[in-house]
Amino acid sequence: MFKNIRHRLLLSYLLILALILGIFSLGIRLIFAYSLRQQMIEKLTALGQGAAANAEWENNQLKIDDDFKLRELLNNHQSLQWFDVKGNSILKQGEFILSLPLSQDNLVQIQAGNPNIQSITLPIIDSDIDKLIGYVRVSQSLEELEEILNKLDWGLVISIIVALSISGIGGILLTNQAMKPIEESFTRLKQFTADASHELRNPLMVIDSNVAVSLKYPEGMREADKESFEAIASATMQMIDLTEDLLILARSDQINLLKKEPVNLVIILEKLVKWYQTKIESKNLNLKLQLSETLLIYGDSLKLERLFSNLIDNAIYYTPESGIIEIEGKPKKCSIEIQIKDTGIGISPENLERIFERFWRADTSRSYWNGGSGLGLAIVQAIVKHHGGTITVTSQLGIGSCFTIYLPIN
Ligand SMILES: Nc1ncnc2c1ncn2[C@@H]1O[C@H](COP(=O)(O)OP(=O)(O)OP(=O)(O)O)[C@@H](O)[C@H]1O
Ligand SMILES: [Mg+2]
Repeated sequence: MFKNIRHRLLLSYLLILALILGIFSLGIRLIFAYSLRQQMIEKLTALGQGAAANAEWENNQLKIDDDFKLRELLNNHQSLQWFDVKGNSILKQGEFILSLPLSQDNLVQIQAGNPNIQSITLPIIDSDIDKLIGYVRVSQSLEELEEILNKLDWGLVISIIVALSISGIGGILLTNQAMKPIEESFTRLKQFTADASHELRNPLMVIDSNVAVSLKYPEGMREADKESFEAIASATMQMIDLTEDLLILARSDQINLLKKEPVNLVIILEKLVKWYQTKIESKNLNLKLQLSETLLIYGDSLKLERLFSNLIDNAIYYTPESGIIEIEGKPKKCSIEIQIKDTGIGISPENLERIFERFWRADTSRSYWNGGSGLGLAIVQAIVKHHGGTITVTSQLGIGSCFTIYLPIN
Protein backbone atom coordinates (compact mmCIF):
# COMPACT_ATOMS: atom_id res chain seq x y z
CA MET A 1 0.00 0.00 0.00
CA PHE A 2 2.77 2.43 0.98
CA LYS A 3 4.78 1.47 -2.07
CA ASN A 4 1.86 2.54 -4.20
CA ILE A 5 1.51 5.91 -2.43
CA ARG A 6 5.25 6.46 -2.75
CA HIS A 7 5.21 5.79 -6.50
CA ARG A 8 2.21 8.05 -7.02
CA LEU A 9 3.81 10.86 -5.00
CA LEU A 10 7.05 10.60 -6.95
CA LEU A 11 5.27 10.42 -10.27
CA SER A 12 3.11 13.48 -9.64
CA TYR A 13 6.13 15.39 -8.37
CA LEU A 14 8.11 14.54 -11.50
CA LEU A 15 5.15 15.35 -13.76
CA ILE A 16 4.76 18.81 -12.23
CA LEU A 17 8.48 19.44 -12.48
CA ALA A 18 8.53 18.27 -16.12
CA LEU A 19 5.63 20.62 -16.86
CA ILE A 20 7.40 23.59 -15.26
CA LEU A 21 10.68 22.82 -17.03
CA GLY A 22 8.82 22.34 -20.31
CA ILE A 23 7.06 25.71 -20.08
CA PHE A 24 10.30 27.39 -19.03
CA SER A 25 12.26 25.86 -21.96
CA LEU A 26 9.52 26.74 -24.42
CA GLY A 27 9.67 30.36 -23.23
CA ILE A 28 13.44 30.47 -23.60
CA ARG A 29 13.22 28.86 -27.03
CA LEU A 30 10.59 31.35 -28.27
CA ILE A 31 12.40 34.45 -26.95
CA PHE A 32 15.75 33.25 -28.28
CA ALA A 33 14.38 32.44 -31.75
CA TYR A 34 12.55 35.76 -31.87
CA SER A 35 15.62 37.82 -30.98
CA LEU A 36 17.80 35.88 -33.45
CA ARG A 37 15.28 36.58 -36.25
CA GLN A 38 15.05 40.23 -35.21
CA GLN A 39 18.83 40.52 -35.29
CA MET A 40 18.94 38.98 -38.73
CA ILE A 41 16.25 41.30 -40.06
CA GLU A 42 18.17 44.29 -38.73
CA LYS A 43 21.36 43.08 -40.46
CA LEU A 44 19.52 42.48 -43.73
CA THR A 45 17.84 45.91 -43.52
CA ALA A 46 21.22 47.60 -43.06
CA LEU A 47 22.58 45.67 -46.01
CA GLY A 48 19.55 46.55 -48.12
CA GLN A 49 19.91 50.22 -47.28
CA GLY A 50 23.58 50.08 -48.35
CA ALA A 51 22.61 48.30 -51.56
CA ALA A 52 19.84 50.80 -52.28
CA ALA A 53 22.38 53.62 -51.93
CA ASN A 54 24.45 51.98 -54.67
CA ALA A 55 21.67 52.20 -57.21
CA GLU A 56 21.13 55.24 -59.43
CA TRP A 57 18.62 56.41 -61.99
CA GLU A 58 20.45 56.86 -65.29
CA ASN A 59 18.95 57.25 -68.76
CA ASN A 60 15.56 56.34 -67.45
CA GLN A 61 16.75 53.05 -66.00
CA LEU A 62 18.22 51.52 -62.83
CA LYS A 63 22.05 51.37 -62.74
CA ILE A 64 23.85 49.36 -60.08
CA ASP A 65 27.43 49.31 -58.98
CA ASP A 66 28.34 45.72 -59.85
CA ASP A 67 31.03 45.01 -57.29
CA PHE A 68 28.93 45.76 -54.28
CA LYS A 69 30.47 43.74 -51.42
CA LEU A 70 29.99 40.55 -53.39
CA ARG A 71 32.61 38.50 -51.53
CA GLU A 72 31.30 39.40 -48.14
CA LEU A 73 27.78 38.53 -49.23
CA LEU A 74 28.75 35.05 -50.35
CA ASN A 75 30.56 34.36 -47.10
CA ASN A 76 27.52 35.22 -45.09
CA HIS A 77 25.11 33.11 -47.12
CA GLN A 78 23.52 36.29 -48.26
CA SER A 79 22.37 37.49 -51.66
CA LEU A 80 20.97 40.59 -53.31
CA GLN A 81 18.37 41.09 -56.02
CA TRP A 82 17.44 44.32 -57.71
CA PHE A 83 14.06 44.91 -59.32
CA ASP A 84 12.62 47.71 -61.37
CA VAL A 85 9.40 49.49 -60.37
CA LYS A 86 7.30 46.85 -62.13
CA GLY A 87 8.95 44.03 -60.23
CA ASN A 88 11.16 42.68 -63.06
CA SER A 89 14.43 41.29 -61.82
CA ILE A 90 17.41 43.31 -63.10
CA LEU A 91 20.42 41.88 -61.32
CA LYS A 92 21.25 39.12 -58.85
CA GLN A 93 24.29 38.62 -56.68
CA GLY A 94 25.00 35.77 -54.29
CA GLU A 95 24.16 32.16 -53.79
CA PHE A 96 20.82 32.03 -52.00
CA ILE A 97 18.47 33.71 -54.43
CA LEU A 98 14.79 33.76 -53.64
CA SER A 99 12.73 32.42 -56.53
CA LEU A 100 9.50 33.95 -55.23
CA PRO A 101 8.23 36.94 -57.19
CA LEU A 102 8.74 40.35 -55.68
CA SER A 103 6.04 41.30 -53.20
CA GLN A 104 5.62 45.01 -52.58
CA ASP A 105 3.38 44.68 -49.54
CA ASN A 106 5.40 41.98 -47.80
CA LEU A 107 8.48 43.48 -46.30
CA VAL A 108 9.72 40.14 -44.93
CA GLN A 109 9.39 36.97 -47.01
CA ILE A 110 10.38 33.43 -46.10
CA GLN A 111 10.87 30.74 -48.74
CA ALA A 112 10.66 27.18 -47.50
CA GLY A 113 13.19 24.87 -49.07
CA ASN A 114 16.58 23.41 -48.43
CA PRO A 115 17.84 25.61 -46.92
CA ASN A 116 15.03 27.95 -45.92
CA ILE A 117 15.66 31.49 -47.02
CA GLN A 118 14.49 34.71 -45.44
CA SER A 119 14.43 37.97 -47.32
CA ILE A 120 13.46 41.56 -46.84
CA THR A 121 12.46 43.97 -49.59
CA LEU A 122 13.27 47.67 -49.52
CA PRO A 123 12.19 50.38 -51.97
CA ILE A 124 14.94 52.35 -53.76
CA ILE A 125 14.24 56.05 -53.83
CA ASP A 126 16.43 58.38 -55.83
CA SER A 127 17.04 61.32 -53.51
CA ASP A 128 17.82 63.71 -56.39
CA ILE A 129 14.46 63.34 -58.09
CA ASP A 130 12.64 62.00 -55.01
CA LYS A 131 11.08 59.15 -56.93
CA LEU A 132 10.70 55.38 -56.49
CA ILE A 133 13.09 53.84 -58.99
CA GLY A 134 12.97 50.14 -57.98
CA TYR A 135 13.35 47.62 -55.21
CA VAL A 136 16.19 45.73 -53.62
CA ARG A 137 15.64 42.38 -51.97
CA VAL A 138 18.24 41.06 -49.52
CA SER A 139 18.12 37.36 -48.62
CA GLN A 140 19.96 35.10 -46.28
CA SER A 141 19.86 31.38 -45.80
CA LEU A 142 18.31 30.40 -42.46
CA GLU A 143 20.65 27.40 -42.20
CA GLU A 144 22.91 28.93 -39.59
CA LEU A 145 20.03 30.19 -37.50
CA GLU A 146 18.30 26.83 -37.61
CA GLU A 147 21.52 25.11 -36.61
CA ILE A 148 21.83 27.36 -33.56
CA LEU A 149 18.19 26.72 -32.63
CA ASN A 150 18.71 23.00 -33.14
CA LYS A 151 21.66 23.03 -30.77
CA LEU A 152 19.60 25.02 -28.27
CA ASP A 153 16.78 22.44 -28.52
CA TRP A 154 19.15 19.59 -27.82
CA GLY A 155 20.71 21.50 -24.97
CA LEU A 156 17.30 22.13 -23.45
CA VAL A 157 16.12 18.52 -23.88
CA ILE A 158 19.32 17.14 -22.34
CA SER A 159 19.18 19.58 -19.42
CA ILE A 160 15.52 18.69 -18.78
CA ILE A 161 16.40 14.97 -18.73
CA VAL A 162 19.37 15.57 -16.41
CA ALA A 163 17.29 17.85 -14.15
CA LEU A 164 14.47 15.28 -14.01
CA SER A 165 16.86 12.43 -13.22
CA ILE A 166 18.51 14.39 -10.42
CA SER A 167 15.12 15.47 -9.05
CA GLY A 168 13.90 11.88 -9.37
CA ILE A 169 16.71 10.67 -7.12
CA GLY A 170 16.10 13.59 -4.76
CA GLY A 171 12.37 12.82 -4.87
CA ILE A 172 12.93 9.18 -3.92
CA LEU A 173 15.03 10.26 -0.92
CA LEU A 174 12.48 12.88 0.09
CA THR A 175 9.42 10.62 -0.20
CA ASN A 176 11.30 7.92 1.73
CA GLN A 177 11.97 10.41 4.47
CA ALA A 178 8.42 11.76 4.46
CA MET A 179 6.76 8.33 4.40
CA LYS A 180 8.93 6.76 7.08
CA PRO A 181 7.15 8.25 10.14
CA ILE A 182 3.74 7.57 8.55
CA GLU A 183 4.68 3.97 7.86
CA GLU A 184 6.06 3.55 11.34
CA SER A 185 2.98 4.90 13.06
CA PHE A 186 0.82 2.73 10.82
CA THR A 187 2.81 -0.35 11.80
CA ARG A 188 2.60 0.66 15.47
CA LEU A 189 -1.16 1.09 15.18
CA LYS A 190 -1.47 -2.36 13.62
CA GLN A 191 0.75 -3.89 16.26
CA PHE A 192 -1.35 -2.20 18.93
CA THR A 193 -4.59 -3.55 17.45
CA ALA A 194 -3.09 -7.02 17.23
CA ASP A 195 -1.77 -6.88 20.79
CA ALA A 196 -4.97 -5.41 22.23
CA SER A 197 -7.21 -7.99 20.59
CA HIS A 198 -4.83 -10.75 21.61
CA GLU A 199 -4.79 -9.55 25.23
CA LEU A 200 -8.58 -9.15 25.27
CA ARG A 201 -9.08 -12.74 24.24
CA ASN A 202 -8.04 -14.29 27.55
CA PRO A 203 -10.35 -12.30 29.86
CA LEU A 204 -13.17 -12.81 27.35
CA MET A 205 -12.55 -16.54 27.40
CA VAL A 206 -12.67 -16.47 31.21
CA ILE A 207 -16.04 -14.66 31.16
CA ASP A 208 -17.32 -17.03 28.50
CA SER A 209 -16.36 -20.22 30.32
CA ASN A 210 -17.69 -18.93 33.66
CA VAL A 211 -20.99 -17.91 32.14
CA ALA A 212 -21.19 -21.30 30.47
CA VAL A 213 -20.63 -23.03 33.78
CA SER A 214 -23.32 -20.91 35.49
CA LEU A 215 -25.79 -21.61 32.71
CA LYS A 216 -25.10 -25.33 32.93
CA TYR A 217 -26.87 -25.49 36.26
CA PRO A 218 -29.73 -23.02 36.02
CA GLU A 219 -31.68 -24.68 38.83
CA GLY A 220 -32.37 -22.33 41.63
CA MET A 221 -31.48 -19.38 39.45
CA ARG A 222 -34.04 -16.59 39.09
CA GLU A 223 -35.51 -16.33 35.57
CA ALA A 224 -34.22 -12.73 35.28
CA ASP A 225 -30.71 -13.80 36.30
CA LYS A 226 -30.78 -16.57 33.73
CA GLU A 227 -31.68 -14.06 31.01
CA SER A 228 -28.89 -11.76 32.14
CA PHE A 229 -26.38 -14.59 31.97
CA GLU A 230 -27.58 -15.49 28.50
CA ALA A 231 -27.19 -11.89 27.40
CA ILE A 232 -23.67 -11.84 28.84
CA ALA A 233 -22.87 -15.10 27.02
CA SER A 234 -24.08 -13.76 23.69
CA ALA A 235 -22.29 -10.41 24.11
CA THR A 236 -19.10 -12.22 25.09
CA MET A 237 -19.35 -14.42 22.02
CA GLN A 238 -19.69 -11.30 19.84
CA MET A 239 -16.68 -9.72 21.48
CA ILE A 240 -14.61 -12.86 20.97
CA ASP A 241 -15.58 -12.85 17.30
CA LEU A 242 -14.72 -9.18 17.02
CA THR A 243 -11.30 -9.53 18.62
CA GLU A 244 -10.56 -12.46 16.31
CA ASP A 245 -11.59 -10.42 13.28
CA LEU A 246 -9.44 -7.52 14.39
CA LEU A 247 -6.50 -9.84 14.92
CA ILE A 248 -6.87 -11.30 11.44
CA LEU A 249 -7.03 -7.84 9.84
CA ALA A 250 -4.14 -6.45 11.89
CA ARG A 251 -2.00 -9.37 10.80
CA SER A 252 -3.34 -9.45 7.27
CA ASP A 253 -0.26 -7.77 5.80
CA GLN A 254 2.06 -10.39 7.17
CA ILE A 255 1.88 -12.70 4.22
CA ASN A 256 4.38 -15.12 5.71
CA LEU A 257 1.72 -16.13 8.20
CA LEU A 258 -0.20 -17.62 5.29
CA LYS A 259 0.22 -21.36 4.82
CA LYS A 260 0.48 -22.83 1.36
CA GLU A 261 -0.96 -26.29 1.07
CA PRO A 262 -3.16 -28.07 -1.45
CA VAL A 263 -6.77 -27.29 -0.57
CA ASN A 264 -9.86 -28.77 -2.15
CA LEU A 265 -12.49 -26.03 -2.07
CA VAL A 266 -15.25 -28.61 -2.63
CA ILE A 267 -14.57 -30.13 0.79
CA ILE A 268 -14.56 -26.71 2.46
CA LEU A 269 -17.78 -25.57 0.81
CA GLU A 270 -19.62 -28.81 1.52
CA LYS A 271 -18.52 -28.68 5.14
CA LEU A 272 -19.71 -25.08 5.48
CA VAL A 273 -23.09 -25.88 3.95
CA LYS A 274 -23.49 -28.64 6.54
CA TRP A 275 -22.57 -26.26 9.35
CA TYR A 276 -25.11 -23.70 8.22
CA GLN A 277 -27.83 -26.32 7.61
CA THR A 278 -29.83 -25.43 10.75
CA LYS A 279 -29.79 -21.72 9.98
CA ILE A 280 -30.79 -22.42 6.38
CA GLU A 281 -33.65 -24.62 7.43
CA SER A 282 -34.89 -22.24 10.12
CA LYS A 283 -35.23 -19.54 7.45
CA ASN A 284 -36.71 -22.00 4.97
CA LEU A 285 -34.05 -21.03 2.39
CA ASN A 286 -33.44 -23.02 -0.75
CA LEU A 287 -29.71 -23.66 -1.08
CA LYS A 288 -28.33 -24.93 -4.39
CA LEU A 289 -24.78 -26.20 -4.44
CA GLN A 290 -23.22 -26.74 -7.86
CA LEU A 291 -19.57 -27.71 -7.70
CA SER A 292 -17.13 -29.44 -10.02
CA GLU A 293 -15.71 -32.70 -8.69
CA THR A 294 -12.56 -31.13 -7.30
CA LEU A 295 -11.49 -27.53 -7.02
CA LEU A 296 -7.87 -27.70 -6.01
CA ILE A 297 -5.78 -24.64 -5.16
CA TYR A 298 -2.72 -23.88 -3.06
CA GLY A 299 -3.61 -21.84 -0.03
CA ASP A 300 -4.40 -21.66 3.65
CA SER A 301 -7.39 -23.90 4.36
CA LEU A 302 -8.39 -22.16 7.61
CA LYS A 303 -8.31 -18.73 5.95
CA LEU A 304 -10.24 -20.02 2.94
CA GLU A 305 -12.83 -21.53 5.23
CA ARG A 306 -13.15 -18.14 6.92
CA LEU A 307 -13.52 -16.44 3.52
CA PHE A 308 -16.43 -18.61 2.40
CA SER A 309 -18.11 -18.78 5.80
CA ASN A 310 -18.23 -14.96 5.89
CA LEU A 311 -19.83 -14.87 2.45
CA ILE A 312 -22.32 -17.66 3.12
CA ASP A 313 -23.12 -16.10 6.49
CA ASN A 314 -23.94 -12.80 4.76
CA ALA A 315 -26.01 -14.54 2.09
CA ILE A 316 -28.07 -16.28 4.79
CA TYR A 317 -28.47 -13.18 6.97
CA TYR A 318 -29.36 -10.74 4.24
CA THR A 319 -31.83 -13.03 2.47
CA PRO A 320 -35.43 -13.03 3.72
CA GLU A 321 -37.28 -16.27 4.39
CA SER A 322 -37.89 -18.68 1.49
CA GLY A 323 -35.17 -17.05 -0.58
CA ILE A 324 -32.68 -18.85 -2.80
CA ILE A 325 -28.93 -19.10 -2.30
CA GLU A 326 -26.77 -20.55 -5.05
CA ILE A 327 -23.16 -21.57 -4.64
CA GLU A 328 -21.30 -22.44 -7.82
CA GLY A 329 -17.70 -23.46 -8.25
CA LYS A 330 -15.88 -24.33 -11.43
CA PRO A 331 -12.37 -24.19 -12.82
CA LYS A 332 -11.50 -21.40 -15.28
CA LYS A 333 -8.24 -21.26 -17.31
CA CYS A 334 -5.66 -20.72 -14.54
CA SER A 335 -8.01 -20.04 -11.69
CA ILE A 336 -11.09 -21.26 -9.89
CA GLU A 337 -14.31 -19.28 -10.01
CA ILE A 338 -16.66 -19.39 -7.06
CA GLN A 339 -19.99 -17.57 -7.15
CA ILE A 340 -22.26 -16.99 -4.19
CA LYS A 341 -25.64 -15.67 -5.28
CA ASP A 342 -28.62 -14.77 -3.14
CA THR A 343 -32.10 -13.34 -3.59
CA GLY A 344 -31.66 -11.09 -0.57
CA ILE A 345 -32.13 -7.42 0.26
CA GLY A 346 -29.37 -6.36 -2.14
CA ILE A 347 -26.96 -3.45 -1.92
CA SER A 348 -27.59 -0.03 -3.45
CA PRO A 349 -25.11 1.05 -6.17
CA GLU A 350 -23.68 3.91 -4.06
CA ASN A 351 -22.92 1.46 -1.23
CA LEU A 352 -21.44 -1.21 -3.44
CA GLU A 353 -17.94 0.31 -3.27
CA ARG A 354 -18.06 0.66 0.50
CA ILE A 355 -19.06 -2.83 1.60
CA PHE A 356 -15.42 -3.99 1.78
CA GLU A 357 -14.48 -1.14 4.13
CA ARG A 358 -13.76 -2.05 7.72
CA PHE A 359 -16.69 -1.56 10.10
CA TRP A 360 -18.98 -0.45 7.30
CA ARG A 361 -22.59 -1.68 7.42
CA ALA A 362 -25.50 -0.43 5.33
CA ASP A 363 -28.11 1.45 7.36
CA THR A 364 -30.85 -0.75 6.00
CA SER A 365 -29.10 -3.81 7.35
CA ARG A 366 -29.62 -2.48 10.89
CA SER A 367 -32.99 -4.16 10.82
CA TYR A 368 -31.10 -7.30 9.90
CA TRP A 369 -28.55 -6.84 12.64
CA ASN A 370 -26.93 -10.12 13.47
CA GLY A 371 -24.50 -8.70 15.99
CA GLY A 372 -22.03 -8.32 13.17
CA SER A 373 -19.39 -5.66 13.22
CA GLY A 374 -18.96 -4.95 9.51
CA LEU A 375 -15.54 -6.60 9.37
CA GLY A 376 -16.67 -9.72 7.53
CA LEU A 377 -16.14 -8.52 3.97
CA ALA A 378 -12.93 -6.65 4.87
CA ILE A 379 -11.56 -9.99 6.01
CA VAL A 380 -12.87 -11.70 2.88
CA GLN A 381 -11.06 -9.16 0.72
CA ALA A 382 -7.81 -9.46 2.68
CA ILE A 383 -7.83 -13.25 2.36
CA VAL A 384 -8.64 -13.15 -1.37
CA LYS A 385 -5.82 -10.64 -1.90
CA HIS A 386 -3.34 -12.80 -0.04
CA HIS A 387 -4.18 -15.72 -2.27
CA GLY A 388 -3.54 -13.52 -5.32
CA GLY A 389 -7.21 -13.59 -6.27
CA THR A 390 -9.93 -11.06 -7.01
CA ILE A 391 -13.44 -10.52 -5.73
CA THR A 392 -16.23 -8.63 -7.47
CA VAL A 393 -19.82 -8.02 -6.53
CA THR A 394 -22.97 -7.18 -8.44
CA SER A 395 -26.16 -6.40 -6.65
CA GLN A 396 -29.61 -4.89 -7.03
CA LEU A 397 -31.67 -3.53 -4.17
CA GLY A 398 -34.51 -5.88 -3.32
CA ILE A 399 -33.47 -8.44 -5.92
CA GLY A 400 -30.25 -9.96 -4.70
CA SER A 401 -26.47 -9.99 -4.72
CA CYS A 402 -23.78 -12.03 -6.41
CA PHE A 403 -20.20 -12.27 -5.12
CA THR A 404 -17.70 -13.71 -7.62
CA ILE A 405 -14.27 -14.83 -6.51
CA TYR A 406 -11.35 -15.89 -8.66
CA LEU A 407 -8.54 -17.74 -6.94
CA PRO A 408 -5.43 -18.67 -8.92
CA ILE A 409 -4.67 -22.39 -8.96
CA ASN A 410 -1.00 -21.90 -7.99
N1 LIG B 1 -25.30 -10.83 0.56
C1 LIG B 1 -25.56 -9.57 0.94
N2 LIG B 1 -26.76 -8.99 0.64
C2 LIG B 1 -27.03 -7.73 1.03
N3 LIG B 1 -26.16 -6.93 1.70
C3 LIG B 1 -24.96 -7.44 2.00
C4 LIG B 1 -24.59 -8.76 1.66
N4 LIG B 1 -23.32 -8.97 2.07
C5 LIG B 1 -22.95 -7.84 2.69
N5 LIG B 1 -23.91 -6.91 2.64
C6 LIG B 1 -23.84 -5.55 3.19
O1 LIG B 1 -22.49 -5.23 3.41
C7 LIG B 1 -22.29 -4.89 4.78
C8 LIG B 1 -20.91 -5.36 5.21
O2 LIG B 1 -20.86 -6.76 5.24
P1 LIG B 1 -19.86 -7.46 6.23
O3 LIG B 1 -19.95 -8.92 6.06
O4 LIG B 1 -18.54 -6.82 6.06
O5 LIG B 1 -20.38 -7.03 7.67
P2 LIG B 1 -21.59 -7.60 8.51
O6 LIG B 1 -22.16 -8.82 7.85
O7 LIG B 1 -22.52 -6.49 8.73
O8 LIG B 1 -20.88 -7.98 9.85
P3 LIG B 1 -19.87 -9.19 10.11
O9 LIG B 1 -18.62 -8.52 10.57
O10 LIG B 1 -20.51 -10.01 11.15
O11 LIG B 1 -19.73 -9.93 8.83
C9 LIG B 1 -23.41 -5.52 5.52
O12 LIG B 1 -23.69 -4.84 6.71
C10 LIG B 1 -24.55 -5.43 4.51
O13 LIG B 1 -25.11 -4.14 4.57
MG1 LIG C 1 -20.95 -10.41 7.33
